[in-house]
Amino acid sequence: MVDVEIFYFSGSGNSLYVAKELSRRFEHCEISPMVKMLKEGPIRTRGKVVGFVFPIYLASIPSPVREFLERIDPSSADHIFAVATRIGTFSIAPSLLNKYLKRKGRRLDHFEYVNMLSNTPTGLKPGKGSRSWARETGEKDIERIDRSIQPQLDRIAKEIEEKKSRRPFLPLNDLIAIVMDPISRNTRTEVGYFVDDTCIGCGTCERVCLSEKVRMVSGRPRWDPDTPCYYCFACFNYCPEQAILVRKKYDLKEGRYRHATAEEIASQKN
Ligand SMILES: Cc1cc2nc3c(=O)[nH]c(=O)nc-3n(C[C@H](O)[C@H](O)[C@H](O)COP(=O)(O)O)c2cc1C
Ligand code: SF4
Ligand code: SF4
Repeated sequence: MVDVEIFYFSGSGNSLYVAKELSRRFEHCEISPMVKMLKEGPIRTRGKVVGFVFPIYLASIPSPVREFLERIDPSSADHIFAVATRIGTFSIAPSLLNKYLKRKGRRLDHFEYVNMLSNTPTGLKPGKGSRSWARETGEKDIERIDRSIQPQLDRIAKEIEEKKSRRPFLPLNDLIAIVMDPISRNTRTEVGYFVDDTCIGCGTCERVCLSEKVRMVSGRPRWDPDTPCYYCFACFNYCPEQAILVRKKYDLKEGRYRHATAEEIASQKN
């Protein structure tokens, strides 16, 4: 049995970075991508301590994380933690995690946010703020955030080792979740991606697409309307030509956000 088992989902590498940074602080720790495990049969944990690391999307949890929590059997664990990366706004994530775990007779023992950089110009900050998004998020900013979160990661790892309980005040979060959760669960809006004529047909967008919504057709990406989007923005961020734009929301080629390589993002599927 492994001591600590971490399951992660990451569209641009922030959560992958946190999962890896936490794992190197434990002597025996395994990290596994949720997306790959969703393709396999039953999801049974093996760790004494089990953790989930993922980003906050629109004040909620990404749909594959939701599906993962529905399917997981966490019986091996005597301590369950979650770390959500985000820009810094409110979310119903702690209540949702606790809700799914309660259905399995378990509870969330430790929940934390780690504030990092935004991987998207749209969604949370559409319109005016989006214009300066890419210029504000260069490699130096990523390095600065990585350095600044180290003390928090040290503390989280220490508290996990000690199996210390740390939970936000849930009753109010639970109430808000009752209203917000059906909305976030039923969101099926298309992002409005399109590709301009700078596309070189390299297929990176298809490789990194975690939901397999992007398919290359005659050398160009096509977003299959029948495949649900995870809203991870990997296709948009990993296009080497910045050829993927968002209709009516973002048409700039001033940079994209990447905290991992395209291979690392794509490897969540295999
Ligand atoms: C569709 C979408 C919605 C987001 N919504 C929020 C939000 O409500 N609050 C927040 O603080 N950050 C939000 N973010 C920012 C991400 O949570 C943040 O950049 C995260 O660290 C990305 O992690 P990743 O690189 O592992 O995918 C959103 C990002 C996306 C793509
Ligand atoms: S289409 Fe783009 S945003 Fe949607 S799941 Fe695929 S890579 Fe992520
Ligand atoms: S990643 Fe960009 S350049 Fe490559 S196929 Fe997709 S849209 Fe075209």
